[in-house]
Amino acid sequence: MNPSSSTVTDELDVLQPWKQDHSQYPDVVKRLVYQNMENARALALPHVIEQLPMKPTVQGMDSPHQAGDHISYEMLTRAPHYLLTSHFTGISPKAPVRGIHRHISAPTLFCLEGRGWERNDGVLYNFEEHDLLIVPPYTAHQHGGDEDVYALIYVPETGRVHHLMGLVWREQIKLNEKPSFPQGTKPLYEDGKLIGYRILKGVLGIKEDLDVLLGSEPKREATFAARREAEPWVGEVRNTYDRYLQLMHDEAHFCRTVDHVVRSQERPWEITRQGRIKWFVHPETVTASKQKWIYMQEIPAGSRSGRHRHVAEELLLVIRGRGYDVHDGQRWDWKTGDMICVPTMTDHQHFSTGDEPALLLSATPAHYTFLGLGGIEQIEDAPEFGEDSLV
Ligand SMILES: [Fe+2]
Ligand SMILES: [Fe+2]
Repeated sequence: MNPSSSTVTDELDVLQPWKQDHSQYPDVVKRLVYQNMENARALALPHVIEQLPMKPTVQGMDSPHQAGDHISYEMLTRAPHYLLTSHFTGISPKAPVRGIHRHISAPTLFCLEGRGWERNDGVLYNFEEHDLLIVPPYTAHQHGGDEDVYALIYVPETGRVHHLMGLVWREQIKLNEKPSFPQGTKPLYEDGKLIGYRILKGVLGIKEDLDVLLGSEPKREATFAARREAEPWVGEVRNTYDRYLQLMHDEAHFCRTVDHVVRSQERPWEITRQGRIKWFVHPETVTASKQKWIYMQEIPAGSRSGRHRHVAEELLLVIRGRGYDVHDGQRWDWKTGDMICVPTMTDHQHFSTGDEPALLLSATPAHYTFLGLGGIEQIEDAPEFGEDSLV
């Protein structure tokens, strides 16, 4: 099912319609032609993918984005997903201090192994194995591992939707203590001081060198600062317009005061119609993440999850175990470390066939719910769900 790389390149060209003038065709023709192309492409992509390995970067040891970068041009490149992608970060004991950056999207970092720390706008948060760390929007963030223990972090992401909204902006505040500059780039110095890096002409077809300077861009800094620093609202709310003046203050105050770590030890397991589930984030949880639903699911050896369908796409990391999924009647095998990519509107079920229980971490964009497209349709219950579970 995995198409060859040349096929992917050919299809990518087809999926860049802005390269041609299509203005002579009416919108309804364009839309249906592109929809058909996208659908054919999604059908050709695998529903289970193996991890792309980590490499040294200007930030530290990071994997590429597993289902394409946040930019919308990379949707449907490796998996049949539009919004969801993810990456991995590894921090060895006594590793060089990682870089600091910020962007508008609010990432969620799941600690797969070890323990570490995160600094959000200078405030320190510690996390342990299987904790979820939430970086609020606009926040300068940096993470590190325990001095003596390797930390492995998994970051499921919905940042691609920000591209569609003109908000994919990213700023590098500080580089890794010992940065690696990828092919096609070189460090930039001023008076002997490292001030950023240069992306050389020719890379991705650019005609001139592109300098990436460390620090904030003034226009964005004004917006970011207002939204990070707004104090709690005082005074009355006289009309609907005032409600939205208040909202900015409420959002800033909430992100500053809420805990940025969802601690696995404090989250309860629930026996549900889908199986044994531990929720980290959903629209009703009190966290700075509004962007995803995230839960962990354990499936006993030889058992299966419930079978369900939702409109949203879903990404599941196999933390451990072995098994397979059935998506609309088609089987997809998986093992520890793989990522299961459930497309939109797909009837799906997970089967655990290993000697130990399978442990999955599920991430779903919350955006569908906010658009009135939430809710889950249960087709079959998990075997563990019984009368006792209703008590
Ligand atoms: Fe980030
Ligand atoms: Fe699901």
